[in-house]
Amino acid sequence: MTIDGRPRVALLGVHGYGRVHLDGLMRLAATGAVRVAGLADPRPPEPQALERLRALPGGADVPVLADAAALLERVRPDVTIVSTPIHTHLPLARLALAVGSHLFVEKPPTASMEQFRVLSAEIAAAGRVCQVGFQSFGSHALAHAARLVADGAVGRVRGIGVHGAWVRERAYFTRAAWAGRMELDGVPVTDGALTNPFAHATASALRVAGVPDDADVAVELERYRVASPESDDTAAARLTAEGLPIVVAVTLCAAEQRPPLIVVHGERGRLELEYTTDTLTGRTADGTEVTAPPGRTVLLDNMVEHLADPAVPLLAPLAACAPFMHLVEAVRRDGPARPLPPSAVTGTGGRPVVKGADELGRQCAEELALFSELPVPWPGAA
Ligand SMILES: NC(=O)c1ccc[n+]([C@@H]2O[C@H](COP(=O)([O-])OP(=O)(O)OC[C@H]3O[C@@H](n4cnc5c(N)ncnc54)[C@H](O)[C@@H]3O)[C@@H](O)[C@H]2O)c1
Repeated sequence: MTIDGRPRVALLGVHGYGRVHLDGLMRLAATGAVRVAGLADPRPPEPQALERLRALPGGADVPVLADAAALLERVRPDVTIVSTPIHTHLPLARLALAVGSHLFVEKPPTASMEQFRVLSAEIAAAGRVCQVGFQSFGSHALAHAARLVADGAVGRVRGIGVHGAWVRERAYFTRAAWAGRMELDGVPVTDGALTNPFAHATASALRVAGVPDDADVAVELERYRVASPESDDTAAARLTAEGLPIVVAVTLCAAEQRPPLIVVHGERGRLELEYTTDTLTGRTADGTEVTAPPGRTVLLDNMVEHLADPAVPLLAPLAACAPFMHLVEAVRRDGPARPLPPSAVTGTGGRPVVKGADELGRQCAEELALFSELPVPWPGAA
């Protein structure tokens, strides 16, 4: 911690999603809540970003290096944000812990359950904390939905269904060597629609359900690919925790992009949560229409508050990701996704569309069913 008590925060990975972190970090630095300790990325930041950094008080002296290890050794930050490819999370987190830093690690926190256990143990041994980039965990609407479920406001929950339909160009899968890969140079990556872009879908559903950190979670998977080089871009998963089924059906090859929806099927009510827009609607057992408080707490802000006052709980601590890691591990063990036959694909070259995937996902979430349990519009896929 600096003499003035403001945490010094380093960012590893400044492009891709790192841009969001860089913005957040500079916003907090401008308010005086943190200091930027340094940035590291083999690709230098955009000139405009660098200009904004240099304009901050003390910004002219902030080191910007290509090498993360050299940066960490040099600046020994209080907090390190790891926003790099999935397979680099654990090695970079370890380097940060070795110089005494707390961690903010992007989701999925690691590429396997074994790595998750190693990271958890090393964080505990170092006496540090770790926030994970499940930003929906800061959502007031999500917290409200979880409270309603815990209070039995929709009666016994029969299950939770989630559907997600996003449109990704083929370029999304070729933007980096690790994109859509299960492994790279013998190291697990475990990228894919379920574990990366729609990781929030499953993690948020588990949170709404109130599944405890140490729960056993059984996972059934049906994973397909059209544009992804190895992993899934269209997939369904059913997680069963303490007898509760959570079905997640997603595609990155949709005809139309929609906000993903979490549907809580209560015996006496129903909730619908759009976790990307913090919108909660539905009806409770007594017929009351559900409304939710707007907005969300930004996870880096929450972490800074937690470090200043440990009575403020971390909103997305590593331990809370354990139920989600059962999905990552199941996907890793499942291996490459199955290619869908060409007859299942429409759309032009740059933007493949899986026939009927939008509607099928919605049906899976409604009926808590996997693709194979419904009439699938892809003959020869099963
Ligand atoms: N929370 C979210 O909503 C969200 C959204 C997108 C991505 N992510 C996560 O963010 C992470 C990065 O994903 P991305 O899509 O931005 O990846 P990307 O490949 O587009 O960008 C990663 C950046 O990290 C840099 N990098 C690679 N190795 C590095 C190293 N050793 N040290 C420093 N920098 C390094 C790369 O040069 C690149 O600039 C992943 O874990 C991903 O799952 C989170």
